[in-house]
Amino acid sequence: MRPLDRRFCIAPMMEWTDRHCRFFHRLLTRHALIYTEMVTTGAVLHGDRARLIGFDGAEHPVALQLGGSDPPALARCARIGADFGYDEINLNVGCPSDRVQEGRFGACLMAEPKLVGECVAAMTAAVEIPVTVKCRIGIDDQDPELALEAFTAAVESAGADALIVHARKAWLKGLSPRENRDIPPLDYDIVFRLKAAHPRLPIVLNGGIATVEAAQACCSRLDGAMMGRAAYQEPWRLLTVDPLLFGAAAPFASVRQAAQALMPYIERELTRGVRLHSITRHLHGLFHAVPGARAFRRHLATAAVKPAACAAVLAEALTLVMDSPAEMAHTAAA
Ligand SMILES: Cc1cc2nc3c(=O)[nH]c(=O)nc-3n(C[C@H](O)[C@H](O)[C@H](O)COP(=O)(O)O)c2cc1C
Repeated sequence: MRPLDRRFCIAPMMEWTDRHCRFFHRLLTRHALIYTEMVTTGAVLHGDRARLIGFDGAEHPVALQLGGSDPPALARCARIGADFGYDEINLNVGCPSDRVQEGRFGACLMAEPKLVGECVAAMTAAVEIPVTVKCRIGIDDQDPELALEAFTAAVESAGADALIVHARKAWLKGLSPRENRDIPPLDYDIVFRLKAAHPRLPIVLNGGIATVEAAQACCSRLDGAMMGRAAYQEPWRLLTVDPLLFGAAAPFASVRQAAQALMPYIERELTRGVRLHSITRHLHGLFHAVPGARAFRRHLATAAVKPAACAAVLAEALTLVMDSPAEMAHTAAA
């Protein structure tokens, strides 16, 4: 099995990185490792599996993120994910929401390294594909130096194939999940020290990576960087991922071409009953510093939400955007 290249990852984001979003991101970068939204073990075991974790073959390499803390349930879900064709199974140890805490999973598991080790061991025993963990540097009043080290030692000895560290604490009481993505300060240095102490464990940095160049800079000290909000809100950035991080040509010369390449997918999904807006909502930030970008967004926001909206709405929106030096800059980067 060839190890996955983790130099650039797109973060798991609930309500955002659904299968339509991932298909679209894949048009912008062939090499990024893409993550699903978190899916709980309960949902995988008892829910509509095809709807919850089904994906398009074009999305590879793609990782399934699971939420849970029961080793046998996680092992079963990892197996199901591997059988669906996922390239990696990831365990969420970073989500601070109340609902997740009540289920005793997500970030609160930072306090239970032994249990997380048992989860990882159960999952690695169940599948041949990589099993990874996404965590914080600590929670609440934990000392991150101690907590992150104990946590990492536990997951590494349990056989984890990589650790993704969102380089800030999670405050489980008093901060909303959204505030928990901004308020606890980022500490990249602790992640660099962690890598020095665990040279054989692939470690990926997450949190506040705002540009592809910043991700590139991480790769000299770590195994990769994971971009979340910037990738979703400013997807035009993704077109430079393959040239800058993987030494490969960009899949398209411009974001406009990538959007045009989405048309056959849209046609196909509409015939399956998907609403246009479910797909085009992920494109709102596609154009940046280009005359017409706002008109593009506005047209999608008003016309794509109509029940009978068809692919022509995207074609119309694209006519509102000018070709400009900003777009040419993407071409040059390719
Ligand atoms: C809308 C949204 C949903 C998120 N959902 C998840 C999730 O399902 N699983 C997870 O591990 N992290 C989730 N996160 C956190 C991101 O994966 C990432 O750790 C965080 O946004 C910090 O990275 P960034 O600064 O590059 O955005 C979510 C973030 C956002 C903005």
